[in-house]
Amino acid sequence: MQNHPRLIVASNRLPMVLTHKPDGSLHFEPGSGGLVTALLPVLRDRGGVWAGWPGLTDDVANLDDLLQQATTRAGYRLRPVQLTDDEHRKFYYGFSNEVIWPLFHDLQSLCHFDPSYWQVYQSVNRKYAELIARETGSDDFIWVHDYHLMNVAVELRRLNVSAKMAFFLHIPFPAMDIFVKLPWRFQLLRALLEFDLIGFQTLRDRRNFVECVRALVKGAKVQGKGQVLGIKIGERTVRVGSFPVSIDFNGFVKRAAAQEVADKASELKALLPNRQLILGLDRLDYTKGIPYRLEAFRNALIRYPQLRERVTLIQVVVPSREDIPQYHDLKTEIERLVGEINGQFTRPGGWVPIHYIFRSLKRSDLLAYYRAAEIALVTPLKDGMNLVAKEYCTCSIEEDCVLVLSEFAGAAAQMQNGALLVNPYDVEGSADAIHRAFSMPKEERRTRMRRLRRAIRHQDIFWWVDSFLRAAIAKDLSAFPLPDDYVPHDESAYSFDLTKNLNL
Ligand code: UDP
Ligand code: G6P
Repeated sequence: MQNHPRLIVASNRLPMVLTHKPDGSLHFEPGSGGLVTALLPVLRDRGGVWAGWPGLTDDVANLDDLLQQATTRAGYRLRPVQLTDDEHRKFYYGFSNEVIWPLFHDLQSLCHFDPSYWQVYQSVNRKYAELIARETGSDDFIWVHDYHLMNVAVELRRLNVSAKMAFFLHIPFPAMDIFVKLPWRFQLLRALLEFDLIGFQTLRDRRNFVECVRALVKGAKVQGKGQVLGIKIGERTVRVGSFPVSIDFNGFVKRAAAQEVADKASELKALLPNRQLILGLDRLDYTKGIPYRLEAFRNALIRYPQLRERVTLIQVVVPSREDIPQYHDLKTEIERLVGEINGQFTRPGGWVPIHYIFRSLKRSDLLAYYRAAEIALVTPLKDGMNLVAKEYCTCSIEEDCVLVLSEFAGAAAQMQNGALLVNPYDVEGSADAIHRAFSMPKEERRTRMRRLRRAIRHQDIFWWVDSFLRAAIAKDLSAFPLPDDYVPHDESAYSFDLTKNLNL
């Protein structure tokens, strides 16, 4: 887009997290998760302001100075939204991660619908809006991200902010039958409709949202049938579209090709010789399907004994949200399963089937794992997009690797033609896919990986920003037709044809 407006980005977290060192002093660490990975190159490229929580609830007197120092020469500014302990507990752990996160990932039984969470969610969203209002001029473009901040536009309108405001949901939007369980379903839908543009990861998420609006918002009229629809409510028309988030393809390729990364990858291969490395890499989260994946790996070792000693699963789990009991329980469950499977198959002095790593990785180590692994298992039970899948393929510079991908990751819509798709709940089917990936001839690997990498290169993070911003300012929505290869089931069922996935 030419002459683009200044971006005012808001997300729960800033891309850098303030933490205490063991000696008590403060320092910044890079944040983790898909949202930060996606947005950092955007802000680096375009500049602007990023508002978010800095990672600590302590009163830090010189926080603004610290943030300024941390971003000297970065080309964008970070503005902190400070939260008290109580706010952080009820807003972040409570409403965001014990209500919206499980509900929107179809795990309604894990929800804790505490009314005080909703109260604090609204007041924290107000805090964000107040900060954004102070930073914004009328020509700026306010871009709010993710499920923590769905109420921000309501508050911005109260503060008479006139700049354009858009929202992008990084996680899935659930089907209506699930959404209607939310005690605050009307308020939340209305709040989202205060934005000028709402972006979803897939057509399926958008379809779910539109169905909820049709059922729950009186007088709302849906217009158009392209990639971006209009929803007319009274005098206003809100735009809704699907924009699959991506990564900085060229940036990843460049960093993955660096000598340091190549050396680390070779070292790893030398330490674990004569076998294929299989990588699992996820935040600690029950949506990522790690226990099912471990069971699938065990099943593969039982049913395909030729895999024994010829594969090693490296499962990296990045610590996350451990104050929530289900996350803590999940860690225990993963560690139990890893111990059990290793106990079952390990050859003393030799092969250990699973190498388990529980910590966040340095960037160069992460890239080295991507480069060294012949196979990646990305098998979430449900995921908005899943950037690990895109990063892994991007870093497969030799194009000789295989991606095994869950049908229920948003990424499946774009990656169905190159990845081996699995239903992560189907342990035997996933085990078959592991075996098939292991045995896949070089030529087939190359054809599939080439296709995957081409798709990511064409629709990278800059394409994503561009199409989102164009959808916000375009005069006419017919400028956003559905892609040529669009088929109706893209929207009505899954983002791909499930029946194509019958024969692995
Ligand atoms: N990641 C990270 N630190 C690590 C391991 C991974 O920041 O130690 C990044 C990874 O590169 C990816 C993101 O975390 O960009 C995970 O994004 P994804 O969309 O796969 O899942 P999310 O964690 O956002 O649910
Ligand atoms: C997902 C969410 C992001 C979040 C990330 C990490 O990607 O969509 O909004 O930042 O997970 O989770 P955390 O709770 O550590 O921010």
